[in-house]
Amino acid sequence: MSRHEHTEDGAAAAAAAATGARLSVPPPVLEQLESRGLPVTGTLDAVEQRLQEQVGSSHAFVDELARYLISAGGKRFRPLMVALSGHLGDPDSRGLVDAGVIVELVHLATLYHDDVIDEAPARRGTPSANSRWDNTVAILTGDYLFARASELSADLGVEVTRIMARTLARLCEGQIAEVQGSKGALPPDVPRLAATEAHYLEVVSGKTASLIATSCRYGALLSGVDAAGVEAAAAYGWNVGMAFQLSDDVLDIASDHEDTGKTPGTDLREGVRTLPVLYALDRDDGELAALLDGELSDDEVERALELLRASDALSRARDTAAVYVEAAVEELAPFGDAPVVAALSGLARYSLDRVG
Ligand code: IPE
Ligand code: IPE
Ligand code: MG
Ligand code: MG
Repeated sequence: MSRHEHTEDGAAAAAAAATGARLSVPPPVLEQLESRGLPVTGTLDAVEQRLQEQVGSSHAFVDELARYLISAGGKRFRPLMVALSGHLGDPDSRGLVDAGVIVELVHLATLYHDDVIDEAPARRGTPSANSRWDNTVAILTGDYLFARASELSADLGVEVTRIMARTLARLCEGQIAEVQGSKGALPPDVPRLAATEAHYLEVVSGKTASLIATSCRYGALLSGVDAAGVEAAAAYGWNVGMAFQLSDDVLDIASDHEDTGKTPGTDLREGVRTLPVLYALDRDDGELAALLDGELSDDEVERALELLRASDALSRARDTAAVYVEAAVEELAPFGDAPVVAALSGLARYSLDRVG
């Protein structure tokens, strides 16, 4: 049975089917959660509806801009993490839906900004906002979405708001450290950082793992889990986030636009040395290093992708991601063998196996 035929899939899937947009993690993953008695589609459908309400603006162009990437698709992985972590406590708790909306809005805002930073032409299978309009409009739309997220967060209280403020600070630190480590052209007074594995992991911890950790923290906190449990859920989420980004960096090299909705080789074009690139440079005969030194033409990007795909760097990076997945699963030990533990373990593994 496909996701769109599934009777409980509701409005979100119907909307996706109508627009042809890619939505959510693959149906089997969600069906498995439902069949384990861990319903998440109700929460996710409510998130979808609330998301649409929350981004509305009486200013027609702002309204169009803010809905642009939401309508284009997206996996809604972070709201899913909130919803599933909510099963660690009471999954019907008030606040879980709004928390799902907050994490997706913040994620969306970072996507608008990230595509400006990365000069990325495509996102969610459609032209990025910066290429469809321009950088100014994309940056301001990101800011608008942060504002709409903050408004919702205020209703959930000081603690939820403080957690997100800290998360965003970590996210910015990660993005800035990435720029400092890139080989792209930068003004001479930007302090450079060496692109090492340790630097890479620090970047990923900030730019990606922080928000996925917070999604799980919200799920546990708002469903009434005790303090130690909240920390365990956040540690689980952090490890999943690390694996999620490592997979993403493999996909930037291994996949095509059809699967990811993004343009392969974007990291290479930007001079960002992701883990597979660092691994390949370890065992390079000099050709890759020469290609990656300076601005790359389209042909050079193609050749670099060819070299990377032929090397063992992708499988080594996948192996490193798998270590984070196992660490994520270990963090769930305090929750025993409840069905939600098996489901969260399955989701951690999905973050590694995903193709888009
Ligand atoms: C993209 O995140 C940015 C990363 C942190 C890798 P997703 O892969 O969750 O993007 P969408 O939301 O599905 O478009
Ligand atoms: C994700 O890093 C960073 C954030 C969105 C915070 P990437 O630059 O690798 O993500 P994609 O590939 O553009 O989605
Ligand atoms: Mg990017
Ligand atoms: Mg980036």
